[in-house]
Amino acid sequence: MFHARSAQLLYLLVSVLILLKTEGFNVGITYVTNAVAKGAVCLDGSPPAYHFDKGFGAGTNNWLVHIEGGGWCNNVTTCLARKNTRLGSSKKMVTQLSFSGLLSNKPQFNPDFYNWNRIKVRYCDGASFTGDVEAVDRATNLHYRGARIFLAVIEDLLAKGMKNAENAILSGCSAGGLTSILHCDSFRALVPMGTKVKCFSDAGYFINAKDVSGALHIEGVYNEVVMTHGSAKNLPASCTSKMRPSLCFFPQNVAQGIQTPLFMVNAAYDSWQIKNILAPGVADPHGLWHNCKIDVKNCSPTQLKTMQDFRLEFLSALPALGSSTSKGMFINSCYAHCQTEMQELWLRNDSPRLSNKTIAKAVGDWYYDRSPFQKIDCPYPCDNTCHNRVFDPQEHPSV
Ligand SMILES: *[C@@H]1O[C@H](CO)[C@@H](O)[C@H](O)[C@H]1NC(C)=O
Ligand SMILES: *[C@@H]1O[C@H](CO)[C@@H](O)[C@H](O)[C@H]1NC(C)=O
Repeated sequence: MFHARSAQLLYLLVSVLILLKTEGFNVGITYVTNAVAKGAVCLDGSPPAYHFDKGFGAGTNNWLVHIEGGGWCNNVTTCLARKNTRLGSSKKMVTQLSFSGLLSNKPQFNPDFYNWNRIKVRYCDGASFTGDVEAVDRATNLHYRGARIFLAVIEDLLAKGMKNAENAILSGCSAGGLTSILHCDSFRALVPMGTKVKCFSDAGYFINAKDVSGALHIEGVYNEVVMTHGSAKNLPASCTSKMRPSLCFFPQNVAQGIQTPLFMVNAAYDSWQIKNILAPGVADPHGLWHNCKIDVKNCSPTQLKTMQDFRLEFLSALPALGSSTSKGMFINSCYAHCQTEMQELWLRNDSPRLSNKTIAKAVGDWYYDRSPFQKIDCPYPCDNTCHNRVFDPQEHPSV
C-alpha cells in the first residue's frame, strides 16, 4: 500500500520533471567576435553574443530576432556595478540558455514560429541597445556602445542567411521589448526590402508616470540613461524632432511614428512598472508598498485604487489605433512582466487569454494577417486566466 503510493508519487514527479524538461531545450552561445573591430562591445569591452537555433523545413528563411531584457544602467556607478555581470560582459554569461515559449522548436508549443531561425540576443550594454559614445573612460573602462552592438549583430545574422529572409520579426522582453520598439524601423531598414517584417514587444511599454510620492522618477532615470549612453542620435527621429531626446525613450512618444507593424503584449499592471515606476523604493521610504509589490493579493484598497489609476494612465499612453490594424495589442490585467518566453504564459491549456485567445495565437494570427488583434482586458481582478507573480520577500525590489 505504502509502496504503491510512493511509486505513484514518484511516477508523478518524474512525469512533471520530464514535462518541464521537454518544454525547454538548451541552445549554445555564439560570440560575435568580429564586432570588436567595429567597437561594438559590451560595457566591459567584451564581444556581444547571441544564442541561435537554426530554422528548418518551411521555416528555413524565416527569422525571429528576440532581445533579452534586464533593466538599464543610468550612470557610471550603476554601469560599473553591472560591468562584471552577465548584463555587462559576455565573459560572465552562461553558455547555454533554455529556449521555450516563442523560442520553442516544437509545433505543439509554438505553432507559428517553431521552425523559424530563432535568435536570443544577449543584453550587455545597459541602454536597450541605443548607446554610442566613442570615448572610453580610462578610469572605468566602460563602453557605451549598445547601438553598435545592435547593428553588428544584425549584420552578422544577415551574413548567416537573414539576407534571404522571407519573414522576419524583431521581438524582445522588458528592456529588450523596448529595444524592439525603438529599433523597429531601423531593423526594417536593415533587412531586404522584400522581407515581410513586423516587430513585437513583450513588457516593453514603459510609461512616463509619476511615482506614489508625485515625483517623475522614471523620467529622471531615462534622462540619465540617454545622457550617459549618448543615445539621442539613435532614438527614432520622428520623436526627437519633436521633443527632448530622453522623452523619446518612452514608447508612448515613439509608437505613433513607427511605420513598421508593431504588436505590444503588456500587462496593464506590469509588475516591474508597479515596483519601479509607480512605487520605487525612493518614493516609499517606509516600505508601505513592500507587501503589495510582492503579491498583489496583499494590496490595500487604497493601493489597489492607485494601481487602477495607473492602469488608466497606461491605457491612455497606448497609441491611438484609428482604423489601422498594423498595430496589435494584447493588454491583460495580470500582475506580470514578460509573458512570451515561458511556456505556461505563451501557450498552454491554462495560459493567459484575452477573448479566449492565448498570446501565441493572437501574435501568430496578427503576424500572418489571419486576423487583427487589439484587445484590452477588463480591470483587475476580473481575469481568471492570469498567472499573477508572487515575488520572494527576500529579494527586495529596487532600481
Ligand atoms: C546613480 O544612479 C543611482 C540610481 O538612480 C543613484 O542611487 C546614484 O546616486 C547615482 N550615482 C551618481 C554618481 O550619480
Ligand atoms: C476557447 O478556446 C478553446 C480552444 O482554444 C475552446 O476549446 C473553447 O471552447 C473556447 N471557449 C469559448 C468560450 O469560446
